[in-house]
Amino acid sequence: MHRGFATVPGIQKVGVVGLGLMGHGVAQMAAAAGYDVVGIEMEQKSLDVGMQRINDSLQLVAKRNVKKGMDEGAAAAQVTETLGRISASTDVHALKEVDLVVEAIAENKDLKLKFYEQLGGIVKPGAIFASNTSSLQITGMAEVSARPKQFVGLHFFNPVQMMKLVEVIRTDHTADEVFDTMLAFGQSIGKTTVSCVDTPGFIVNRLLVPYLSQALLMVDRGEATIEDIDVSMQLGAGHPMGPIHLSDYIGLDVMHSILVGWQKDFPHEAAFVMPKCLEEKVAQGHLGRKTGQGFYTWEGDTKL
Ligand code: 3HC
Repeated sequence: MHRGFATVPGIQKVGVVGLGLMGHGVAQMAAAAGYDVVGIEMEQKSLDVGMQRINDSLQLVAKRNVKKGMDEGAAAAQVTETLGRISASTDVHALKEVDLVVEAIAENKDLKLKFYEQLGGIVKPGAIFASNTSSLQITGMAEVSARPKQFVGLHFFNPVQMMKLVEVIRTDHTADEVFDTMLAFGQSIGKTTVSCVDTPGFIVNRLLVPYLSQALLMVDRGEATIEDIDVSMQLGAGHPMGPIHLSDYIGLDVMHSILVGWQKDFPHEAAFVMPKCLEEKVAQGHLGRKTGQGFYTWEGDTKL
């Protein structure tokens, strides 16, 4: 069937596992590009939250399209059409017939390894697996999946709907045609693709996370206020958000677990330093945007 979208041959049905901050955006972008999407969450409540996030974001997109001159009816129809391509389930067996699985579950090595050990037995043999891990080794996951040649990293950025990049990570096992298909998939959902070998943090997080932790170390040392650090990088370096604002936006638990993992696996890498103020916020359960409190107070996606 011709859908009027440039979807990639061989990829029609995409499973997205984990509809949290990253996964819901991937599911939305894939559906908006014309793919049939199966969204998976283990709990019904998380599934509902993920679908609500997609709905909210699609409403923002529709509003923007109307502002740009699109007819209101056409914008509303686009929302309905995109939502109509997404089915949601708490049963991982709903992934049986997908051509591609994009996994965006919690950033926990043991959890991901356990997930990939079972996934190979559920999804049809030809399907490709892609992890959206931000910091974990792709190779280890590929090796337990029983299909290492069909395994890549597909690393998106938050908010997925707005950030134009996707990093495509190949391991020594990744087949050339699988890698090329994943580059084409990233482009088909409107992203610019870059590629990188399986190295900690790939390109963006290898540079970004040490920068963010350096900003938090300035807080530890009492060198400047969080507001002054943020405004400095916005107005002095042209960043859309300052580093502490961005840490809250990404999630302080995410930053923390990336640094814990890297310090354990690469103890001699001087760039991987854990700020004390980050440890304290996480211990208090103040994780940033997602809990309404981090270094700043948040209301939804807005920093107060
Ligand atoms: N869905 C749809 N539209 C969205 C959206 C979403 N989820 N989030 C924001 N928007 C839209 C807004 O509706 C607004 O549209 P409008 O211009 O038509 O009103 C537009 O985006 C701009 O949003 P805002 O006016 O609210 O605010 P900003 O201009 O500051 O833009 C931002 C928001 C795009 C988030 C921008 O601040 C930004 O680029 N920040 C940096 C984000 C970043 O660095 N991300 C990478 C993090 S690292 C990562 O993700 C890796 C991981 O592994 C840790």
